[in-house]
Amino acid sequence: MYNLLKGKRGIIFGALDESSIAWKTAERVHEEGGVFVLTNAPASIRLGNINALAEQTNSQVIAADATSVTDLENLVDQAVEILGGKIDFVLHSIGMSVNVRKGNHYTNQNYEFTEKGWNVSAVSFHKVMQVLYKKDAMNEWGSIVALSYMAAQRVFPDYNDMADNKAFLESIARSFGYFFGRDKKVRVNTISQSPTATRAGTGVKGFDGFIAFAEKMSPLGNATADDCANYALTLFSDLTKKVTLQNLLHDGGFSNMGVSQEVMEMFE
Ligand SMILES: NC(=O)c1ccc[n+]([C@@H]2O[C@H](COP(=O)([O-])OP(=O)(O)OC[C@H]3O[C@@H](n4cnc5c(N)ncnc54)[C@H](O)[C@@H]3O)[C@@H](O)[C@H]2O)c1
Repeated sequence: MYNLLKGKRGIIFGALDESSIAWKTAERVHEEGGVFVLTNAPASIRLGNINALAEQTNSQVIAADATSVTDLENLVDQAVEILGGKIDFVLHSIGMSVNVRKGNHYTNQNYEFTEKGWNVSAVSFHKVMQVLYKKDAMNEWGSIVALSYMAAQRVFPDYNDMADNKAFLESIARSFGYFFGRDKKVRVNTISQSPTATRAGTGVKGFDGFIAFAEKMSPLGNATADDCANYALTLFSDLTKKVTLQNLLHDGGFSNMGVSQEVMEMFE
């Protein structure tokens, strides 16, 4: 290990179980000397096993529904107190679509579900940043990262309304990132991650097909949750101080492929 995050304090959203990208990131941040509080929605804390991760990483869990500004204010106040100072890094690893969960086709959405989905998956990122910004709770040269997916730019039919939520999320990263950069010297980026076998990932219809397709298309193969954790670390570290307002493609090369020989062979 390199002690890349020694002395840094953070908040990690979204560790549900061992497969979660946030879980892997918390483990790696801990190994690199960073300290943090873990947070998730109350129902997810009951459903998953975040307390085991907290024990393993010597951290505390604070429940917060990321759509509730009151919960987020309480979370940030408590995090600063528990960790003993302002925050250096934040991971927003949250996504959920009720239309996906209920199996509603993209052309047949229930708009109450649509609103709930964009609130949880995108607007929550704005809320997290607005609370941190107003409370002046981030240290200079801090780093805020959220997770996105390529369906924000390109059509993946079964990704459903999550595609729109991710486009919204990426836009918020740029728009808020401008003010956070200018006023507080804090950087804001999204990582556009390969399909990954997690609770949220496998909930998407046709997941097995598109993870296998992406694997065959990508010259380096799909990026795993562990790979994603490592990439997030670099963005939290002081080695990437001037990277901001970016949607960073972490996908084994998938996004720049037209077609691969492996995929061509399936049609010849
Ligand atoms: N798995 C993939 O294929 C993939 C690919 C690209 C991007 N992503 C993104 O990565 C992020 C993490 O997802 P994951 O794949 O690790 O799955 P996951 O299911 O482990 O994590 C999703 C998390 O969102 C949390 N969440 C849902 N509603 C919430 C709320 N109201 N308040 C607070 N937290 C809430 C869940 O409790 C869960 O911990 C998501 O943004 C997801 O869209 C995933």
